[in-house]
Amino acid sequence: MLILGIETSCDETASSVVEDGSRILSNVVYSQIVHNRYGGVVPELASREHIRSIVPVVRAALDEAGVSLEQIEGIAVTYGPGLVGSLLIGLSFAKALSFSRGIPLIGINHIEGHIFANFLEHPDISPPLVCLVISGGHSTVVYVADKGQYELMGQTRDDAAGEAFDKVAKVLNLGYPGGPAIDRASTRGDADFFKFPRARLEAESFDFSFSGLKTAVAIFVSKLSEEELKKHRIDIAASFQEAVVDVLVEKGIRACQKKNSDKIVLAGGVAGNRRLREKLRSEAEKLKLQVFYPSPVLCTDNAAMIAAAGEFYLSRKKRSDLALNAVPYAPLSSA
Ligand code: KG4
Ligand code: ZN
Repeated sequence: MLILGIETSCDETASSVVEDGSRILSNVVYSQIVHNRYGGVVPELASREHIRSIVPVVRAALDEAGVSLEQIEGIAVTYGPGLVGSLLIGLSFAKALSFSRGIPLIGINHIEGHIFANFLEHPDISPPLVCLVISGGHSTVVYVADKGQYELMGQTRDDAAGEAFDKVAKVLNLGYPGGPAIDRASTRGDADFFKFPRARLEAESFDFSFSGLKTAVAIFVSKLSEEELKKHRIDIAASFQEAVVDVLVEKGIRACQKKNSDKIVLAGGVAGNRRLREKLRSEAEKLKLQVFYPSPVLCTDNAAMIAAAGEFYLSRKKRSDLALNAVPYAPLSSA
């Protein structure tokens, strides 16, 4: 089945053509650079950029795939969660295309899309499994009983993991987006330089809290002279990253043990973090758990993951009608 995916939930305008849920024919991602100078996404600017780029991005996805609209058998589009103005651009465009060309439409939850990035790239993974969906907007521990069957085990009570990376990078003057900058800087830094707090919350909880850690870094930095900061910038970055990674790995592995799952899977932008991948691998190995994660381009926002999830539903004859609306806080629900 040839599916056209469209994703505009935040600051990436993305479109992709995926065949049979596992073969990526094209994966076009336009990352809006207009936000860089603000150190974070400005929602109104994001909507305007989506309007400008949606047509060329979808056209590029079709061209690169070498397919015409007549060959497309389904359109999968993110309907939430995300920025409402941004979601509406992709969704309205997808609905118009579906209506005018008579192509079936399916709305996809963005978080489910991130989970499907793993099924897209590793078609042999079979649930049940535990998935950590960790991005700029979400930090969730999800038990995937089966494709389309989800149980939310925990989520962040304040900042998302990626948001903490972005904010700490700002404090350290490492640039935006902060995750990749901290990831890169940390490879040369000393992760044992300072032990920042790990918020483990209640013993049984799979929730996260990263805002205390972010504040701890900000206070630590505010007490340093310019010279000291310059000298230890990458050590602070590495020490902060280690604190985030410790909590993510610990809770992810405990979730596997609770659910008796032998597989743990990463998804979302932060899943691209090298130290996280390395530490999870080494801890999981001790317990004989299998670890999977998508390649970095499929960790961050993209439309191939949305098309892959779309194929799952469309091939089971599920459809959305044209009344489908954007839902900024859409929960991850089961089929
Ligand atoms: O999944 P994504 O593209 O967008 C959302 O759905 O939010 O994730 C973007 C987030 C940003 O906060 C970015 O700083 C973070 O993922 N990120 C990383 C890395 N690459 C992206 N965080 C840590 N290490 C990375 N290598
Ligand atoms: Zn995302």
